[in-house]
Amino acid sequence: MGEHEGAGPTTMKHWRIDEVDWDRFDRTKVDPELVPAIKAAAMVERNGLDYAAYLNAVFLDDPDFRQAADTWAVEEVQHGDALGKWASLADPRWDYAGAFQRYREGYRINTDVNASIRGSRTGELIARCIVETGTSSFYTAVADATEEPVLRQICRQIAADEFRHFKLFYDHMRRYLGRENLNFLHRLRIAAGRISESEDDELAFAFHCANNPPGQDFVHQDSLAAYLGRAMTFYRFQHIERGMGMIFKAVGLPPRGRLSEISARLAWQLVQRRQRRFAERTAERQDFARAA
Ligand SMILES: [Fe+2]
Ligand SMILES: [Fe+2]
Repeated sequence: MGEHEGAGPTTMKHWRIDEVDWDRFDRTKVDPELVPAIKAAAMVERNGLDYAAYLNAVFLDDPDFRQAADTWAVEEVQHGDALGKWASLADPRWDYAGAFQRYREGYRINTDVNASIRGSRTGELIARCIVETGTSSFYTAVADATEEPVLRQICRQIAADEFRHFKLFYDHMRRYLGRENLNFLHRLRIAAGRISESEDDELAFAFHCANNPPGQDFVHQDSLAAYLGRAMTFYRFQHIERGMGMIFKAVGLPPRGRLSEISARLAWQLVQRRQRRFAERTAERQDFARAA
């Protein structure tokens, strides 16, 4: 994160979709298990403008933050479009626009608010830090795992943006913390709440819209398992360790202390358990397909 220190919205260096080396796309290096997860991620990212509308309502009298939120949302939408374009190369029959339309119709963020659903602006910003921790870890993990050069390039760029977004929300959070004085336990509760919400409808529904044929019923548990089963396989310990440090930082604990290290090891065990469960399920599916 250090290289982005001091970068304001006007000095941010940014990348454009047409600067990606799309002609280096290599079909033989595409991991088919990865494609459905990338399609789902594209849905959530593409929905950034609704979050900006929500943040603009929550931070109504804070023009600096509102400006930053608008710039942030444009970057998130670009993440969606870059991932959507890549997934369309990997699967030319995929209808990105149609899938996103179904997602938007079924998943609406309430932007007609006058306060944060987290109870305070500090809480809102902590929740945003958690989301950016999740996205920066995910895209770093995918970039490290994939052999496909274009996906690796896109995910590196996106991950760099997500680390910068973390810093953006973190800096604003520190500013509000001085005013609102949220105690440590309160901050911890908000962070833990947002981490557990990550498995709520948003990603599961995104996976459903991006991968199931139109008209098929949404079964939360099936879509969630299908998404997580794939997403979990890309993580390595270093991704979990770095993410844990960021979560610690967001709630005001030392990011590289003993407690952070222990927490990272526990989280890594959970991830590994899920990786094994997914591998077993995949093997069962293959057995079943062979027997059929
Ligand atoms: Fe993003
Ligand atoms: Fe982000």
